[in-house]
Amino acid sequence: MFSTLLFIFGALITLVISQDCVPYSSPYDFSSGYPTVWETPTNNDFNTDEFQQVYNSIDWSQVPDIEPHQVVNGALDSSNYPDSDPDCWWSYKQCTTPNAPGLQPDIAICPEPETWGLTYDDGPNCTHNAFYDFLKENNQKATMFFIGSNVADWPNEAQRALTDGHQICVHTWSHPYMTTLSNEGVLAELYYARKAIKYVCGVTPLCWRPPYGDVDDRVRAIAQQLNLATIIWNLDTNDWDMEPAGSETPDQIDANFQSFVSMGQNGAFANSGCIVLEHELNNGTMSKAIEWYPQIKSAYQYVVPIATCMNITQPYAESNYTYPSFAEYTGTN
Ligand SMILES: *[C@@H]1O[C@H](CO)[C@@H](O)[C@H](O)[C@H]1NC(C)=O
Ligand SMILES: *[C@@H]1O[C@H](CO)[C@@H](O)[C@H](O)[C@H]1NC(C)=O
Ligand SMILES: *[C@@H]1O[C@H](CO)[C@@H](O)[C@H](O)[C@H]1NC(C)=O
Ligand SMILES: *[C@@H]1O[C@H](CO)[C@@H](O)[C@H](O)[C@H]1NC(C)=O
Ligand SMILES: [Zn+2]
Repeated sequence: MFSTLLFIFGALITLVISQDCVPYSSPYDFSSGYPTVWETPTNNDFNTDEFQQVYNSIDWSQVPDIEPHQVVNGALDSSNYPDSDPDCWWSYKQCTTPNAPGLQPDIAICPEPETWGLTYDDGPNCTHNAFYDFLKENNQKATMFFIGSNVADWPNEAQRALTDGHQICVHTWSHPYMTTLSNEGVLAELYYARKAIKYVCGVTPLCWRPPYGDVDDRVRAIAQQLNLATIIWNLDTNDWDMEPAGSETPDQIDANFQSFVSMGQNGAFANSGCIVLEHELNNGTMSKAIEWYPQIKSAYQYVVPIATCMNITQPYAESNYTYPSFAEYTGTN
């Protein structure tokens, strides 16, 4: 009897989880006015009137003339790149202070001491409701870096992030290595991801994170003209690379989280805090996030989204949407 009940319960859960990922119809139409979902924009996308207008709105004299990089055997090729890192190429030496004039430095740390900057990349995900429920139960906001194509596929999930008070930033349309794209390609990846978020959520983000951290001064200059601040990280959980999707064991990912928890306990962030890379990518990454959250909370004085780290009280271009300052969020006012 009990095992029958268990079986029915288990089947029900499986059903609920799998139903989450069944495509559904929505009022949002991405069949025109956007690149093909999950495809890197091509000339067809660059040759539209809309895109030409955006392209002409950029002051290209402010964008450094840097050759796009190549991907060779699945990895960025740096074999001919000067060791002096002239373009502040993050993928090469984790540079976050641009060399080209007029560019803002990347946001790579949370300036507040003993503070964990909470960020999740690659959403929204079709199965994230349990994860978002967990954050809500803990009254915890985070910064979510959304892929435009996932917003197109899962608009209800994207809307929930805004409703729950998370900060939404851009994570490109199709998740490429941005320094490998032409100027048009970089612009289209940012512009259409931002447009998708505005269409579905009604807000225009002012921040973005390059997939794989792959950014240089050319890409930064284009992002900056779209009013998108570049946000990197200084601690990487490597959760995205966990088995079965990746190649590291859950124990290895736990060891990363454990060392970051220890850093919170041993004063590593006594003067300024961290920004931690985690992912809203699959069951494994979301489960690890939930599992480690209590220890992170007790090891760090504050766990906050990046807007809060920076006292950004207007996180979107729309001025009627406000966000708490650090003092307001943490109740230290
Ligand atoms: C969302 O998560 C599920 C598992 O929880 C995974 O199978 C799926 O690939 C993810 N979707 C995306 C677009 O990452
Ligand atoms: C989800 O991930 C957690 C943590 O790795 C694992 O223990 C659990 O078995 C996974 N669940 C499913 C349904 O894959
Ligand atoms: C945020 O505001 C607090 C005062 O409430 C201040 O101490 C802190 O330096 C500010 N942080 C930033 C990054 O501006
Ligand atoms: C902000 O204004 C827009 C219309 O201008 C409206 O659709 C939106 O609901 C408003 N948001 C908030 C949080 O008040
Ligand atoms: Zn990503």
